[in-house]
Amino acid sequence: MNANIYDVIHRRRDVRAQFTGEPIPDKSLRRVLTAAHAAPSVGLTQPWDFILVRDVALRREFFAHVQHERDCFAETLDPEAAQRFARIKIDGVLESSLSIVVTYDPDRGSPAVLGRHAIADAGLYSVCLAIQNLWLAATAEGLGVGWVSFYREPFVRDLLDIPERIRPVAWLCLGPVTHLETTPDLERHGWRQRRPLDAALHQDRWTAK
Ligand SMILES: Cc1cc2nc3c(=O)[nH]c(=O)nc-3n(C[C@H](O)[C@H](O)[C@H](O)COP(=O)(O)O)c2cc1C
Repeated sequence: MNANIYDVIHRRRDVRAQFTGEPIPDKSLRRVLTAAHAAPSVGLTQPWDFILVRDVALRREFFAHVQHERDCFAETLDPEAAQRFARIKIDGVLESSLSIVVTYDPDRGSPAVLGRHAIADAGLYSVCLAIQNLWLAATAEGLGVGWVSFYREPFVRDLLDIPERIRPVAWLCLGPVTHLETTPDLERHGWRQRRPLDAALHQDRWTAK
């Protein structure tokens, strides 16, 4: 069992280019969502919701917005970085089988959220754990997941009728894939290298590295 979970953790990838577009079997999707919903949450608030976006018109609208945000980011880069960025695919919104938007409701279980009085972000952390559960479960199911964050929250709220107080935390692209790469795309494209574990380890106190 341990070997399995480590295997899944290390096989997981952020997918943009390898989606086949084939449908996700219903039972497989249900298991993935059930795993997401089993995540820990501050004060047992389970502050997440999952919007399954199958409508192609909605996905096209979102995709156009992502292209615009991509251009905004590209304009902030120096010419050399802009060239590297131009070769990097940042989403599989149209090629994937399904989009899942994961949202955060800060009011769920409030006002007395056990464990959030001093750290408001603890609610958001909980949503991220649900996303990670979803990501790992999808990997175990042989599916790919890609997280798209090239969007403005008000745009996604308007597009999907999400109430003002709710935050769209992630737009996830999901579906069967041809394969999972063994190296992150950003590393393969020379954007950034992963940091070795030892560079992130500190003993007793923070040490500058
Ligand atoms: C919060 C968050 C937002 C991300 N947004 C994007 C995105 O908009 N587009 C993209 O291509 N990848 C996005 N990613 C994926 C990261 O680029 C990816 O996780 C990282 O490069 C490491 O690769 P790996 O997930 O395959 O290990 C995001 C990941 C996280 C955790």
